[in-house]
Amino acid sequence: MQKLKMLTGFRPTGKLHLGHLHGNIMNMIEHQHEYNNFFFLVDWHALSTEYQNPKDIKKNLLDCLIDLIALGVDPEKTHLYRQSDIPEIPELTLYFSMITPLSWLERCPTYKEQINQLQSKDLSTLGFLSYPVLMAADILVVNADVVPVGEDQLPHLEITREISRRFNHLYGNFFKEPQAMLSQSRRVLGTDGRKMSKSYGNAIFLTDDRDTIRKKIRMMITDPQRVRLKDPGHPEVCNIFDLYKIYKKEKIKDIEQRCRKAQIGCTSCKDELADIIYGNLEGFQYRRAELEKDIKKIYQILDRGRTEVRDIASKTIKDVREKIGID
Ligand code: TRP
Ligand code: SF4
Repeated sequence: MQKLKMLTGFRPTGKLHLGHLHGNIMNMIEHQHEYNNFFFLVDWHALSTEYQNPKDIKKNLLDCLIDLIALGVDPEKTHLYRQSDIPEIPELTLYFSMITPLSWLERCPTYKEQINQLQSKDLSTLGFLSYPVLMAADILVVNADVVPVGEDQLPHLEITREISRRFNHLYGNFFKEPQAMLSQSRRVLGTDGRKMSKSYGNAIFLTDDRDTIRKKIRMMITDPQRVRLKDPGHPEVCNIFDLYKIYKKEKIKDIEQRCRKAQIGCTSCKDELADIIYGNLEGFQYRRAELEKDIKKIYQILDRGRTEVRDIASKTIKDVREKIGID
């Protein structure tokens, strides 16, 4: 039986942190063997917010690709490509933009939210408004079945499904309605207790060395009621304990008891966690450094991805033109 197609796009926005890893990426990597995978880097989407200063997009894109491979995405089993290598995507975006009511885009919750949040950027552009249309074309140009995304992307995926239905209604059945694959992702809190995010300056990056991780973890707030070593702790309110749940499931009972009975100090509890986190990243960091030495190979992977995906995408466009009647 043919495998279903799993597709997801990554915004090349710079260094990855633990929040990214435990959000969507691990989930996707764990399922990669069950699907025919399409993972790509969305430099056009990046341009919709970075158009005034696009110079980092390309470097970030290569970094992001290296990260994905070093984390375990298997380039032999995955179409790895960049959005801007697939000219069929903007052609499909154009057809979709003809049939997408403005109201769908204007009422999309991420639209207003982002405009408010990114006040330093002028996002009152056509390109930014049609971000979800471009995303629909990304997905439907290969007729993907499942799309692993974070919760924040669900409204976009809903628009994709609406566009698919509308196209099928107007021109005859052709596109699938892709399903979201939500990860049981854990929200990873940053070192200040807020959601981990590069812009908050509270992130632990996948490329941080042992010392940096120790320093960052030491800064984290634990149980505020635990002032002295002999005060019993309350692991349920402690961020460090949350991280143990992700990293050392088999140890949490033990940590919990020792914390409640004040048999372990927060500093050693933290240092131990920092070492576990670093231990977990060490292999990744080594593979990343190796890949960085061989940029040619990275470009070869992108070349192959482009050929494979254009093959599929150009067939879609041919059929779409026929369906619409402009073939
Ligand atoms: N919009 C997604 C994000 O900001 C990135 C993206 C672009 C995407 N095209 C996609 C995700 C297609 C899944 C499928 O993270
Ligand atoms: Fe948190 Fe560990 Fe301190 Fe308990 S001992 S409060 S789990 S850091």
